[in-house]
Amino acid sequence: MAEIIDGKKVSEHIRSQIAKGVDKLKQETGITPGLAAVLVGDDPASEIYVRNKRRACSNASIYSEEHKLPLETTEQELLTLVDKLNNDPKIHGILVQLPLPDHINVTKILRAVSPLKDVDGFHPYNVGLLVEGNPRFIPCTPHGIIKMLEFYNIDISGKQAVVVGRSNIVGKPVSMLLLHRHATVTVCHSRTKPLDEVTRRADILVAAIGRANFITADMVKEGAVVIDVGINRNEEGKLTGDVDFEAVSQKASYITPVPGGVGPMTISMLLWNTLESAKSTS
Ligand code: GUN
Repeated sequence: MAEIIDGKKVSEHIRSQIAKGVDKLKQETGITPGLAAVLVGDDPASEIYVRNKRRACSNASIYSEEHKLPLETTEQELLTLVDKLNNDPKIHGILVQLPLPDHINVTKILRAVSPLKDVDGFHPYNVGLLVEGNPRFIPCTPHGIIKMLEFYNIDISGKQAVVVGRSNIVGKPVSMLLLHRHATVTVCHSRTKPLDEVTRRADILVAAIGRANFITADMVKEGAVVIDVGINRNEEGKLTGDVDFEAVSQKASYITPVPGGVGPMTISMLLWNTLESAKSTS
C-alpha cells in the first residue's frame, strides 16, 4: 500500500515559509508583494482557480487584484490591460488565467506579459532560462511536484521518470526539471505506442493527461512513485485525477491523491514566485 503524498501538508509548510518571507520583505523594504489575476469570460473552473489563488494570497498577506473581463473582450483590450499591469509598481506578478477564449491569440498575450512579472513562467524568455538550467520563474505545477518529491525525500537522480502529457504548462517543464535533477526522462503523449510498456518502466510516473482514471494498475510498476496532475469530474460530478487511485495505490510506493495532492502545491508555488519577484525589485 502506497504512502500518500499529502499536498496540503507540504503546502502548509511552504506557505508558512512564504508568510515569513512576506513579513521580512515588508519590514526591510516596505514592499508588499502584489499579484494581478486576469480572467476573460466565465469558465466556472477558471473562476474557482482564481478565487482560490486570491484567497491564498490574502492568507499570506500578499496583495492581489482580479481583472475579470467579459467574453467578448478583444485581444487589443487584453494587451492594453497587460501593458498597464506591466507598468504598475504595486504588481509583481501577472497571471493570465488559461484557457483564453478562441478569438484571442494566447501566444501573443503570454509574450506581452513582462518576463520580470511572469509568475506562471510561460513567457518564452523564462521557458528558455528553464531549459538552459537557470530558471527565473519555474511554472507552478511542475515546481510544486518537485517540492513534494523533495519533502518526502524521494530520490530523482538516476531514476527512470516517465511523464504522460506534453503540455507547455506541465508536461514539458516538469520533464526539464526532472532532467536537471538527473532523471532519465521519457515524455509520452496520445500517440505513444505502446504506452503501457513505457509507463511500466517508470520509477517516477507523472500523469498529466486530463482524462479521468486513464492510468490503470497494469500500467504501473510495483513500487513506483505516482504523481497525479489530473483534475477531472467523473459522471457523478466528483473530482478525480488521471490515475485510478484505488487500484494504483495498491502497487505504488508513493501516490498523490486528487484532491489534496498537486493542486494545493500549484497555488503555493504561485505565491512563492510572486514573493521572489517582489524581492528582486527591492
Ligand atoms: N490554467 C490551468 N493551469 C494554469 C496555470 O498554472 N496558470 C494559468 N495562468 N492558467 C492555468
